[in-house]
Amino acid sequence: MQEKKIDDVRAFWEANPLFAGESSFPTGSREFFEEHSFVYEQDCFAGRIDSRIFPDGSNREKALDLGCGPGFWTIELARNGVKKIIAADLTQNAILLTRKRAIIYGVEIETSLQNAERLSFEDCSFSHVNCQGVIHHTPDTEACVREIARVLRPGGTALISVYYKNLFLRSWPILRYAARVLLAFGAGMKGRGRENIYGADDINEIVRLYDGARNPIGKAYSRSEFRQMLSRHFETEDIFFHFFPARSLPFRIPNWLHRFLDKRFGFMIFAKCRKALSL
Ligand SMILES: C[S@@+](CC[C@H](N)C(=O)[O-])C[C@H]1O[C@@H](n2cnc3c(N)ncnc32)[C@H](O)[C@@H]1O
Repeated sequence: MQEKKIDDVRAFWEANPLFAGESSFPTGSREFFEEHSFVYEQDCFAGRIDSRIFPDGSNREKALDLGCGPGFWTIELARNGVKKIIAADLTQNAILLTRKRAIIYGVEIETSLQNAERLSFEDCSFSHVNCQGVIHHTPDTEACVREIARVLRPGGTALISVYYKNLFLRSWPILRYAARVLLAFGAGMKGRGRENIYGADDINEIVRLYDGARNPIGKAYSRSEFRQMLSRHFETEDIFFHFFPARSLPFRIPNWLHRFLDKRFGFMIFAKCRKALSL
């Protein structure tokens, strides 16, 4: 496959901001953001946000929400006590959506157009970096990790998540046959050309397709691959899993089962990392 460049990534996300093309409401309206928050909390946390995402007391001073998309985490960081927040994204449309969301919910923020692979912020500028579902979409993922570490002050924390090669993805060479049956019963994701997601053969293709048929890059990591990438710059304090998009199934599952699958068989791996005090 042709190598994808940062310009391809920018063009895709500029044309397809997260959740645009899925909502029944106009992009950027209050109803759009409310529906997005509901779907996000259901998809990503089976209905209950994990409080480990948020920085602890001393690191609530100044946070960067890197790859903010339509600003879900920007608002949640403010609601969870972060005093100053800079929301940054590769795309102008994400910045505009995040600003609108912040106005609607009465949250004061700053915004900045940034490439996570090469941030323009000074060294040690932030006490916390939140980066959810971003660095697996960009060509140089390792450069993003290095940059997150660079802009964090010593002792600062980062909460980073990427797609995880969970049991379902690892077993995909076998499961894909069962998935064909689900597909026949109407499984799949609506909008963004993702109807055929269960028809994909390759696991990186599945995570790429999750964000849209034209999404240029999606990468999935095993626990050891993720840990290894982070270990060059951070101490990893906690690893946990979430994200079981039950709405892609052709039938409803009970809440308890959704919570179990979310925690044990999530499609995303989250790491709470800390920059060492003396580096
Ligand atoms: C799947 S969305 C996640 C948005 C948000 N973090 C969330 O969890 O709701 C991915 C976002 O990452 C942004 N992105 C992708 N590559 C980036 C890069 N190299 N630098 C900054 N943002 C990037 C995209 O523009 C998009 O808004």
